[in-house]
Amino acid sequence: MPKRYFITTPIYYVNSVPHVGHALTMLVCDVTRRYRKMQGWDVWFLTGTDENAIKVMEAAASSGLPIQQFVDQISTQFRECWRSLNIEYDDFIRTTEARHVGAVQKFFSLLRENGHIYLDKYEGWYDVGAEAFVKESDLIDGKSPDGNEVRRISEENWFFRLSAFEDRLLAHIDNNPTFLLPETRKNEVVSFAKQGLRDMCITRQNPGWGIPVPGDEAKVIYVWFDALINYIAATGWPDPDHFGDLWPADVHWMAKEIFTRFHATLWPAMLMAADLPLPETIIAHGWFTFGDSKMSKSKGNVIEPRQLAGDIGSLTGCSERSAIDTVRFCLAALLPYEGDREFTTEEVLRRYNSDLANDLGNALNRTLAMAHKFVGGAIPPGEAETEVKDFIYNSVLEFEAAMELHRIDSAVEAAISVVRYLNKYIDTQAPWALAKAGDERVFTVLRSMLLALRATEGLIRPIIPWTADEIARQLGLPPLEDWKMIGTEESLPAAVTLGSPQPIFPRYDPKKQMDAATLEPIKNSEKEGEAQTLEAEPEQITIEDFMKVKLRVARILEAEPVEGSSKLVKLQIILGDERRQVLAGIRKSYEPADLVGRQVVVVANLKPATLMGLQSQGMILAADGVDGAAILLAPEEECPEGASVH
Ligand code: MSP
Repeated sequence: MPKRYFITTPIYYVNSVPHVGHALTMLVCDVTRRYRKMQGWDVWFLTGTDENAIKVMEAAASSGLPIQQFVDQISTQFRECWRSLNIEYDDFIRTTEARHVGAVQKFFSLLRENGHIYLDKYEGWYDVGAEAFVKESDLIDGKSPDGNEVRRISEENWFFRLSAFEDRLLAHIDNNPTFLLPETRKNEVVSFAKQGLRDMCITRQNPGWGIPVPGDEAKVIYVWFDALINYIAATGWPDPDHFGDLWPADVHWMAKEIFTRFHATLWPAMLMAADLPLPETIIAHGWFTFGDSKMSKSKGNVIEPRQLAGDIGSLTGCSERSAIDTVRFCLAALLPYEGDREFTTEEVLRRYNSDLANDLGNALNRTLAMAHKFVGGAIPPGEAETEVKDFIYNSVLEFEAAMELHRIDSAVEAAISVVRYLNKYIDTQAPWALAKAGDERVFTVLRSMLLALRATEGLIRPIIPWTADEIARQLGLPPLEDWKMIGTEESLPAAVTLGSPQPIFPRYDPKKQMDAATLEPIKNSEKEGEAQTLEAEPEQITIEDFMKVKLRVARILEAEPVEGSSKLVKLQIILGDERRQVLAGIRKSYEPADLVGRQVVVVANLKPATLMGLQSQGMILAADGVDGAAILLAPEEECPEGASVH
């Protein structure tokens, strides 16, 4: 089997629940996996949980749960969180699994047989927070360099001859420019190694938890030595079959705090000692901070991804999938590649409005609405304009270049640049003016707009796959899953009937609480200026205009208040032989229970809208009463359901 593209995240300690910091690394890998898959690569994405640490044992003790039950529970929470964020990993390894324990013990024995491990006395400090041994000279005011409490240890332990690999490691870094990334962190590793790598204590006295040292069960293997081996344990090492398909890893991703001391020095040295090839690239991003410190459970300043998605849903009224995609989009767009970055809900909502509701939402809405209005609601034949195809082509190249450098944030920019371009293109081409003048070019312009939209669907697919699916659905096309097809005329078959535009990201208005939601469809389709050109409504309308509005009689079957809204009632209505859900802003005037069984008049051909995450498929007519009360309109006598109203 040919070698697979193998990508990994750190395995997370199960003393804490997953937060957006963990989700960041997961997302970077998920985007990479989805992108490479679209390009036809055979990709393998590994993640998991790190369970043998002392801090895990102590967290279990303070939870009062038996330790195995505790680690099972938190490991499951990580998996559930990744599933809800639509993260598709191929393997999830737990360090308490037999396959991992077996590989760690074999690795330890192999190095001991080869003379890379020896017994000695460890006299010094241990930082449980970072699970790291600390030199006396590195203590700052009695604390570890990370600011954690330290414990004194005096034990006989096994040591790994890390010092023996210093020169080879420095030479490897020098000869392989993309081995350690980014450049600034590589430089930190070089100066760290040049100060001299010291042999490392790699066991602890057995506290009743951890992987016992083979033949010396009074000791357990130090959690970092144990955890790093997960990357080969998951390949089936030492069994050459699967190991050969996967190893060496193409990319190990992590954040900066576990780069220099562990992944960029200890791990390569361990692999050299075992005569195994080194990974292609080890790369560390910065931290998401909150206030001025790293977001972490121990500081109690974490944002949990599912909670964040829930908040986005209730603040904006978007669907659950759109809320998840918003989280994904923001994690990718806000990747702190070199430095750190503060992560706030405000910034997420700002991005939501500017990039998703405005740029993407407008492009989708305007393109589909105009295709229906000006070219009959089907994909026009012919070819898109060269200018548009060139822009798409260059954006694809930019996306690819960004991904080569692992810059997910720049890839997001490249994808969004297409919708920004599309919005400008619509402004300058003014298809409404072409249509009014009877200019045939309107077909080419609409085809070009649709091609840009189709390309956007492809480009955003690795980042926000559910949104990409929704765009494909509204285009009436199957998902674009082959990277090579992006921007091609073939990706846009002529004469396909387009769906009707539906807002995916209703605009968030911080001034207007969702509670104040009205039944007006959310206006995110057209800009103000253009809305005037397109929809400069005359004072009076013709009978033909009026006849476009399909008014029908319906009966209310069910009515219930919408949670979190003081105005909205959710109605199930029957309209002829069709059942629909409609939201009505009549809560202040009617008790939901009093509505059931009534006949009402409904605008039956209104575009569906989403309010507070719920679909509304029509509008109930009501007159304005005194003090803004709503008074429902109804036929004077019972009439057949679905009857037309003129
Ligand atoms: N168990 C070790 C890793 C062993 S890998 C062989 C560990 N676990 S951890 O739970 O602390 O996870 C650390 C990783 O989670 C970081 O390296 C990073 O990938 C991610 N992040 C955790 N908090 C983060 C931020 N606040 N910001 C960015 N990434 C964050 O270390």
